[in-house]
Amino acid sequence: MATWRNSGLPRRLILRLALLLFACADVAYAQTANTCLDCHSVQDPPRRVTEEQFARDIHSQKGLNCASCHGGDPTKADLDAMSKAAGFRGKIERSQIPALCGKCHADGAYMRQYNPSLRTDQLSQYKTSVHGKLLEKGDTKVAVCTDCHGVHDLRPVSDTRSKVHPLNVAQTCARCHADAAYMKAYSIPTDQFEKYSTSVHHQAMAARGDLSAPTCTTCHGNHGAAPPGVDSVQNVCSKCHVFQDQMYEKSSHKAAFQSAGLPGCVVCHGNHGITHPTDAKLGTGPAATCMQCHSPGDTCDLARVEMLSGLTRLDSAIKDADHTLSVAESSGMEVSAARLEEDQARDALTKARVTIHSFRKELVDHDIQEGLKIAEKNMLAGKAALADRDYRRRGLGWALVFIFATVIGLFLYIRQIERNAPKT
Ligand code: HEC
Ligand code: HEC
Ligand code: HEC
Ligand code: HEC
Ligand code: HEC
Ligand code: HEC
Ligand code: HEC
Ligand code: HEC
Ligand code: HEC
Repeated sequence: MATWRNSGLPRRLILRLALLLFACADVAYAQTANTCLDCHSVQDPPRRVTEEQFARDIHSQKGLNCASCHGGDPTKADLDAMSKAAGFRGKIERSQIPALCGKCHADGAYMRQYNPSLRTDQLSQYKTSVHGKLLEKGDTKVAVCTDCHGVHDLRPVSDTRSKVHPLNVAQTCARCHADAAYMKAYSIPTDQFEKYSTSVHHQAMAARGDLSAPTCTTCHGNHGAAPPGVDSVQNVCSKCHVFQDQMYEKSSHKAAFQSAGLPGCVVCHGNHGITHPTDAKLGTGPAATCMQCHSPGDTCDLARVEMLSGLTRLDSAIKDADHTLSVAESSGMEVSAARLEEDQARDALTKARVTIHSFRKELVDHDIQEGLKIAEKNMLAGKAALADRDYRRRGLGWALVFIFATVIGLFLYIRQIERNAPKT
């Protein structure tokens, strides 16, 4: 009986199959083997790179390995892995990092294979930034790609743990910009983070998780980081504050500030420590911004006084009407229609505060009058409700007197009848 054992053909086939299997396994091993990690996961920092760390890296997840950036051959054991012959380039100097990352990230054709929607302008943008320009001149203290993104556990932007996620950006920049010792050689302030932490913008972002509020890179750009110039500050703010911007466009401040080299919105609001403005900003106290340029009694100052008193008048008209409506309401009167109109009066006040940015009293006054009309109407409605209440109270009083008198009358009448009844 011919078995597979004594048949020459199948035996050779099996041998070949086995060899093929070995070869496949070898290729598979070669593809997944990472001798770099074998050695580097047990080294001391900064040479330690562990498997868990690298597994979190977007590059590792996309199938790239150590050699993609460092060269060398991760399938070779021992120091052969780091041989010059295998293209090993060793430690990457800070000055070389943007070029290394740009090798792939500025190559549109290469990046499209992975993610066609990813931008490929990071390196070209970086070269226009203050960071990039100084690096070019040999200053390696400026931010390079890895300072903002990290290395070896580099996460995609959308990951909330990424150093460049909007919630984490300010901390990432602060590592250098809030470090007075590190920034000593430069002539710029180091209070940006401290001030930003007190701002309405940070509050909206950090406390309320409002990702539509700006962080450092919203105003400075991600890769082209530079301070916005006099001409572009207004554009930075107007991306979000459209209505104030439209009004400011109408003002004579715009041209006057521009020709004096003053940075628009920032003159009155600041840049990093922007706080919630109140009407006091239009006054003459410590929060005031106008008197640094205008003098008491000049035409602009008179316009200021008028605008401020308009706001104050509308504000107190709304409050007074609100008080009257509340009293009416707590006496059980129906005033819901006026309550709805109250919102319109408040909107008019908000609008007037936006219109302030035209710095034209007639435009502000238009909004104020609009609001005053509604507030006055509401006040009348509140007063009418109260009058109605008084009328009803008086009615109730008379009714009570009448009922009381009737009861007394009945009582007296019954007593009379009882007294007149014959004794038994
Ligand atoms: C057999 C262990 C071993 C293997 C395998 C190995 N390395 Fe190394 N690596 C070392 C040691 C030890 C040093 C320090 C050598 C020195 O100072 O000359 C080093 C240095 C380096 C440095 C330079 C660090 C510095 O501060 O100068 C880099 C980068 C590096 N290895 C990357 C790799 C990569 C990438 C691979 C895989 C392709 C790899 N290594 C494979 C042990 C290893
Ligand atoms: C996306 C590119 C990239 C990948 C992938 C990568 N590295 Fe690096 N690696 C760098 C850069 C850039 C630096 C320099 C970091 C710096 O100076 O801020 C570096 C630094 C190092 C250093 C030297 C640290 C020091 O300060 O002396 C070692 C060692 C190293 N890498 C090993 C590895 C190993 C091992 C792997 C794979 C597990 C790997 N790298 C994967 C880009 C990469
Ligand atoms: C000053 C900090 C900083 C530096 C330096 C920096 N980046 Fe970025 N990068 C960011 C921020 C912040 C984002 C997130 C943008 C967002 O929220 O959409 C980002 C996003 C990215 C993205 C995702 C796609 C995109 O453009 O939004 C890539 C890729 C990238 N950076 C690569 C690089 C490379 C390559 C370099 C070096 C040439 C570099 N970055 C230097 C801060 C930086
Ligand atoms: C060998 C090519 C290569 C090199 C070198 C390289 N990258 Fe990447 N990078 C990629 C690829 C591929 C992806 C994945 C893109 C995808 O699929 O979304 C990626 C993804 C990223 C992302 C995530 C983008 C996102 O979706 O938010 C960032 C950030 C990034 N790389 C930064 C860097 C930095 C910083 C360096 C230099 C230290 C660098 N890369 C070096 C190829 C490379
Ligand atoms: C590794 C340290 C480091 C990190 C991180 C860093 N920077 Fe810088 N940055 C510098 C240094 C150093 C300068 C040069 C100072 C100068 O301009 O004289 C600079 C300059 C700047 C300037 C120009 C200032 C001027 O008026 O000349 C801006 C704007 C800036 N950085 C914004 C940012 C933003 C935004 C981030 C975070 C996304 C950031 N930087 C992260 C080190 C850093
Ligand atoms: C709302 C927009 C905005 C935000 C948010 C913002 N900046 Fe600025 N930043 C500006 C403007 C505008 C200027 C300069 C224009 C001026 O005041 O003349 C500036 C100036 C700078 C400068 C130059 C030196 C200086 O202080 O004048 C640095 C550095 C800087 N910012 C870093 C940062 C950092 C770091 C953060 C985050 C913690 C940040 N900025 C957040 C708008 C912003
Ligand atoms: C990315 C959008 C964005 C940019 C850019 C931006 N802001 Fe804001 N701003 C916001 C958000 C969101 C709030 C919070 C509104 C809130 O608290 O409801 C806010 C709040 C404010 C407030 C307080 C408003 C209030 O009623 O308390 C002022 C003032 C302000 N920003 C001025 C500026 C100035 C000046 C600039 C330019 C230097 C600027 N903003 C840039 C989004 C932005
Ligand atoms: C000449 C000073 C001045 C300039 C320039 C200025 N503002 Fe204002 N801004 C004010 C005053 C005053 C208020 C407070 C109004 C109030 O509450 O009575 C205010 C209020 C605000 C508010 C709070 C919301 C509101 O409307 O009450 C925002 C947001 C704002 N300004 C944004 C901007 C933006 C954006 C620019 C640039 C396009 C700008 N401001 C330019 C003086 C200025
Ligand atoms: C940085 C200086 C500066 C600040 C701060 C400033 N102004 Fe002015 N203001 C000017 C200049 C310059 C003009 C233009 C004068 C002219 O055209 O003759 C002007 C014009 C005006 C005008 C006339 C507008 C017109 O179209 O007729 C008014 C009103 C005015 N400012 C009110 C204010 C108020 C209110 C504030 C405070 C919220 C303020 N200004 C803050 C410098 C300033």
